[in-house]
Amino acid sequence: MRNLINRAQKTLLGNRRKGYTLPTNNKLYPAQWNWDSAFIALGYSYFNLNHALKEITTLLDGQWKDGMVPHILFHDTNTNYYPNYTAWNCGNKIHSSGITQPPILSTILKLILDKNKISNKQTKEVKKIVKKIIRFHEWFIKFRDPKKTGLVSILHPWESGYDNSPIWDEPMEKVTIEKNLKYKRADNKLVNPDHRPLNIDYDRYVSIKNNLRKKKYNPKKIFKSSLFNVVDVGFNSLFLKANKDLIQILNKFNLKSSKISNYIKITEKNILKLYDKKKEAFYSKDIRNKKKIYVPSITNYFILFADLNNDLINKKLIKSLKNHNKNDKYFFSSIKPNHKSFEEKRYWRGPIWVNCNWFIYKGLMNKDNSFSKKIKRKTIQMIEANGFHEYYTRKSAKPMGAKNFSWSAALYLDLVLNKN
Ligand code: DGY
Repeated sequence: MRNLINRAQKTLLGNRRKGYTLPTNNKLYPAQWNWDSAFIALGYSYFNLNHALKEITTLLDGQWKDGMVPHILFHDTNTNYYPNYTAWNCGNKIHSSGITQPPILSTILKLILDKNKISNKQTKEVKKIVKKIIRFHEWFIKFRDPKKTGLVSILHPWESGYDNSPIWDEPMEKVTIEKNLKYKRADNKLVNPDHRPLNIDYDRYVSIKNNLRKKKYNPKKIFKSSLFNVVDVGFNSLFLKANKDLIQILNKFNLKSSKISNYIKITEKNILKLYDKKKEAFYSKDIRNKKKIYVPSITNYFILFADLNNDLINKKLIKSLKNHNKNDKYFFSSIKPNHKSFEEKRYWRGPIWVNCNWFIYKGLMNKDNSFSKKIKRKTIQMIEANGFHEYYTRKSAKPMGAKNFSWSAALYLDLVLNKN
């Protein structure tokens, strides 16, 4: 274990560039990704608090004027990545994508502040960070939930972070692929294409992106006209948790945001509308096509991380979570294996992802501590069997995707070094 702790630190430092860290050191993701950076910051906080804060500060340097924090910042423009900065054609100060990603910065920052003493200089830095995070969350409330339903929309599958999850299959089928679409993928030359999204998925990702670009990413316009508009359980759970954590951070600094405290109340109430009493599970909703999406994704259990004040529902969810892929050596597969959409090795359609396990393990700490500890133990075993990869198979922890994957290393540090 000692050895692997060292390797985790080396992995992060090896992927570090000027003030930010790549998701991996190969060519697959040659930029700064939003939620990757948040996990990475947590990892750094175990051995270099300045790197941790710098990672977050650099990400927020790319914040748009309206408050959005992009899903990718292209600090280095000389790469083979597609879609690169010219394909997006936007950004404020730093070239970026025109969409966002799960807003987990406040959650990560709270964990970092809870376990570290910070200097006066660092306190100043943290206050700047916090003000930017408030603007980011208020951007979500204003532009991604214009009707104030308490639930925010994502306008591109890439915004979820779980790009080709079967959750998006039905809404994606309705997306018309642009005529004469021309682009060149790089990802499927770098990783076994059987472990990556399909070409038809990419055709649609690019068509949605081009449509957003045509509207100049105007947040009001694209809410109504995006080819994809989904209220996702996982995403909203992470946002609810992030809002709660942000309020706690604000209390520490004697700051307030009534917009955010009010929004938490509406979300707590209305997220229950995504709960299906018969199926005893939460499901996402396709807003554009007005349809519920019945896919048993592990991300639907992120609601446990949001600490919903409803013991009955929490108990039912934990019971079904225990059946998610209980016959396998490792859990949790991103999709329940008996579902028709499940694919053992294809990215978000079946493999195990360390960050999903981490959210659920954290969420269960105050609800079913022994199960939470078991998830932690199994996840550590999986990583120790094969190292820091992007994703793993449920039966043998066969490693797939990128090697030296930063968030797997960062979250390993939290799993083995936090005191819980
Ligand atoms: C990719 O390039 O596969 C990313 O997941 C998009 O955000």
